[in-house]
Amino acid sequence: MLDAVRLDSLTEARRGLPLVVRPRDERRAEWLAEWLQAQRPWVEAQLLEHGAILLRGFAIDDALAFESIARAIDPALKNHYLGTSPRDALTSHVFSASELPPYYPIPQHCEMSFVAHPPRRLFFCALVPNTSPGGETPLVDFARVAEDLDPAVRARFETRGVRNIRNYAAPGTRRRDLWQLKPWNDMFGTTDRAIVEQKCRDNGFEWQWGDGGALRLLGTQPAFAPHPTTGTPVWFNHTQVFHLSAAADELRRVGRRPGQLPSAVLARLVALVTAVKSRTVDPEALPMHCTYGDGSPIPDADMHAVRDAIWANLVAYRWQRGDVVAIDNRRIAHGRMPYRGARKIAVAWA
Ligand SMILES: [Fe+2]
Repeated sequence: MLDAVRLDSLTEARRGLPLVVRPRDERRAEWLAEWLQAQRPWVEAQLLEHGAILLRGFAIDDALAFESIARAIDPALKNHYLGTSPRDALTSHVFSASELPPYYPIPQHCEMSFVAHPPRRLFFCALVPNTSPGGETPLVDFARVAEDLDPAVRARFETRGVRNIRNYAAPGTRRRDLWQLKPWNDMFGTTDRAIVEQKCRDNGFEWQWGDGGALRLLGTQPAFAPHPTTGTPVWFNHTQVFHLSAAADELRRVGRRPGQLPSAVLARLVALVTAVKSRTVDPEALPMHCTYGDGSPIPDADMHAVRDAIWANLVAYRWQRGDVVAIDNRRIAHGRMPYRGARKIAVAWA
């Protein structure tokens, strides 16, 4: 059965991340779904070894076909999303990856690293790849990040853990700026506070209701998590997304990469806004904020060290129409490079 495909790697790949699977002859999504089901133990083993599999050349051209491919790899797809990205549903279990504006880089992260049971698998499909520079969904091996992290910084995160603070707007609130999180009823799918509180309990979130109906979620967790199968320590938290330094530092690093959109002006502007916010806004009131687990601030220098380790392990490749990537979410992080124009990437998880 393996004769029907060609195994390959990308020139951008690092240590086999991702494994590329291509058809030898023209094959449609239906064939691929059956093939993946028949090869499930092999697929599982490849995901464990490589961290991600890129299925390329199978012409997967709509959200339903994508869902069938994701299900063929992991039948237990989920559709509860307790994260921070604005998303639209395309099918019952497929969503737009992120509706955040295209000029904004999404830092690398393992999906929902702050919930009690984070997804095992994550899937992306390039329904419409952008034609502008950028727009990649880079992959990073967060086990490597744990290993490469500056030892003193690593020790601080290991001993203290991390604390996340997220401030969700009240139902019906219109978005005022890029950083504002969606209303909490959009995330929880209900306006019933009792149901929200139960979901918070299930996920280990502490919660505080604000005067105007806003909701603050807090959570303390270790900074590293052992991989569920191998036990290898993985950098598994969202500080590089939630820390106030994230946007300015990410934009600066994106700007240094050849072939990426020029973002020097935006990077300077965001750095300025960040500097003002750090002096004027109560950090606990920021849409997203994080500290060490004991409540002490995480210095910018520690976050720079984390991003150094992340960016040194970045694998960024251009999307081709119909690409599907299956990711071991307990080890491999994803993000998004800025882009311009049309781009439609779908996501599913299990
Ligand atoms: Fe994500």
